[in-house]
Amino acid sequence: MDYSVCLLAAGKGTRMKLPYNKVFHRLKKNKTVLDSSLGIFLQDSECKQVVLMYAKEDEAYMKERYSKIDRVELHEGGLTRQESAGIGLHFVNQDYVMIHDAARPFVTKEQIDALKVALETEDACLLMIPSVDTIKIVKDGYVETTPLRQHVYNAQTPQCFKTTLIKMCYEKSLLEGRQATDDAQLVEWYTDVPIKVVLGDLGNKKITLPQDISI
Ligand code: CTP
Ligand code: MG
Repeated sequence: MDYSVCLLAAGKGTRMKLPYNKVFHRLKKNKTVLDSSLGIFLQDSECKQVVLMYAKEDEAYMKERYSKIDRVELHEGGLTRQESAGIGLHFVNQDYVMIHDAARPFVTKEQIDALKVALETEDACLLMIPSVDTIKIVKDGYVETTPLRQHVYNAQTPQCFKTTLIKMCYEKSLLEGRQATDDAQLVEWYTDVPIKVVLGDLGNKKITLPQDISI
């Protein structure tokens, strides 16, 4: 299953409180968060293209470090994650695309393989984990209701789609000026296409807060 990756690194990492974008944080052996999330896809020969989205202020560093890598192309992102993904999708040249947060450096080959297997029969799938906490719907400071825990999952990335499908959904959201919190939500809004759940694990964490670095 050949595919493109739209790798989103065009944020600022505000909540991480580093003096630079969190995707440039060094994990070990001088390997950054981004090196790691990019590396996992570059190791996969079926990943034919990496559309790597960067923030304007990171342009020089990104070009110096990543522009000579085969299969990688760099594009400037937008103000929000959704904007960056929407821009990146214009450049995708494969029939299937995995949209991945560069801030998730611990995604595994096994997880990517499981997503590829799902894409053989599905047009949309994503990594999710069952919620370990009880989730409550809250309104105005009071609990409204508690969804059954076995029905509640946390969405992760990669989120994978038939390229024509997700492009159509992104175009509609742009026209309507509607903001989703992940990519799959756009498919829920605009289509009846089933979105297959592929089990991820807690290790596929998004580096978000300062305490995430200590792990
Ligand atoms: N992202 C992006 N373009 C944006 C905003 C976010 O490509 N305009 C990317 C980030 O680089 C990250 C992923 O989307 O890899 C998930 O977003 P998030 O964890 O929120 O990262 P940031 O927006 O950088 O962090 P913060 O919200 O704390 O500023
Ligand atoms: Mg953000």
